[in-house]
Amino acid sequence: MSSLLAKNISMSFSNSQHSVNVLDNVSLELIEGRSIGIIGSSGCGKTTLLQILAGLETPTAGSVYHDDLNLSERNKAKFNQLRSSLFGFVYQFHYLLEDLTLLENCELSFQIMGSKNHEANRKSIFLIFEELGIGHLKDSYPFMLSGGERQRAAIARAVAHKPTFLLMDEPTGNLDADNAAIIQELTINLSKKFNMGILVATHDLEYASKLDEVYRIENSKLQKIDHE
Ligand SMILES: Nc1ncnc2c1ncn2[C@@H]1O[C@H](COP(=O)(O)OP(=O)(O)O)[C@@H](O)[C@H]1O
Ligand SMILES: [Mg+2]
Repeated sequence: MSSLLAKNISMSFSNSQHSVNVLDNVSLELIEGRSIGIIGSSGCGKTTLLQILAGLETPTAGSVYHDDLNLSERNKAKFNQLRSSLFGFVYQFHYLLEDLTLLENCELSFQIMGSKNHEANRKSIFLIFEELGIGHLKDSYPFMLSGGERQRAAIARAVAHKPTFLLMDEPTGNLDADNAAIIQELTINLSKKFNMGILVATHDLEYASKLDEVYRIENSKLQKIDHE
């Protein structure tokens, strides 16, 4: 089983005046097909932990492993290539390109990965669109959609290439309760259906409670929360 392991991660940010210790000796393992929620107050380090897991930030101490591979020791160019196939990302804001249709937005992510199998890529995209209930919107532009539809499109773009891990940073943060509930259910279903590991940084405790494991970041430490 494929796993993403953050081992003894510490992270501090410093400038000439002072240094902030954001994460202190934090370890976490995300396994494919499983889901983890990260909660904690604003500024506690949720985004920082996600960025480190994806290799987008280098921790002050500790390493991130994909299976037995130490991602921090890998050649940068190679890792950039691996990263786009290994991960999908969803943020609070959708970041869809406004001049492209939903279909074109999703095709673009395959192009960035260097994947040229146009037909197969479209097939994967249409499959995900159906799964997310946005098939009828494939030729629409982002401005034509509601907030919930745009976020579903952002999820489609993140998962169309079937990443092993889906990292989501406050994916329901901009949505009303009904749309947040739809996104919760869809992402949990996708994780099961495609055997993806999902990691969600969220303020939404109801969402977190539906995930396999929940952790809170507090005073730079990661603490596992008991939930049924
Ligand atoms: N690049 C950076 N430079 C300096 N400080 C940063 C940087 N990124 C994050 N921080 C600080 O680290 C702390 C955690 O930030 P963040 O991970 O964004 O928290 P959260 O996502 O939980 O709201 C905050 O105090 C923030 O100001
Ligand atoms: Mg954040």
